[in-house]
Amino acid sequence: MTRLTLAVGLPGAGKSTWFARQGIKPVSRDTINELLTGYPHDQSAQDEVTALLIQVVGARLSRGMDTYVDATNTVARARRRFVAVAELHRVPIRALLFDTLGETCLARNEQRTVGKVPEAAMLRIMTMFERPTLAEGFDEILIAEQSGYRPQTFQLDNMESSISTTS
Ligand SMILES: Nc1ncnc2c1ncn2[C@@H]1O[C@H](COP(=O)(O)OP(=O)(O)OP(=O)(O)O)[C@@H](O)[C@H]1O
Ligand SMILES: [Mg+2]
Repeated sequence: MTRLTLAVGLPGAGKSTWFARQGIKPVSRDTINELLTGYPHDQSAQDEVTALLIQVVGARLSRGMDTYVDATNTVARARRRFVAVAELHRVPIRALLFDTLGETCLARNEQRTVGKVPEAAMLRIMTMFERPTLAEGFDEILIAEQSGYRPQTFQLDNMESSISTTS
């Protein structure tokens, strides 16, 4: 099924790990960043990286490819253009929320050797974080199930059935 699924989660929330464990190959912002700048975590070309990311996503959707995006997408403004590209191609769009506690993300970030985000930037991103809402234009909001790396998602508005499927 062709649809667009957008990861939403702080740095260190476990997005890339989750995709790898699921065997899903997302369009990764880091990959595009590396293609453009030579380094996955170079911050010098953010606007161009965003433009390329949107272009790749749009091209995939027009080819009918089911598409996941691995990027933080922590504010509605960053998500808006993905909603627009999904609408343009008339495909459903889902937010996949990585609901990892901020303190866990901070601790994991501290342990990182590559891709470590400066602590002040982490705190800023945490302060500005906006949970995705249906009002932004998402057809569904899913929460990534990460305990024991179990590759499952469940719907936010249907917690009861989700608990039975994960037990
Ligand atoms: N479910 C988990 N349990 C324990 N550790 C985890 C889990 N998921 C990820 N990690 C660890 O947390 C760190 C960050 O994970 P990952 O790189 O997947 O985060 P990310 O959300 O992709 O971050 P970024 O936005 O910076 O790319 C890694 O060291 C990873 O091994
Ligand atoms: Mg990642």
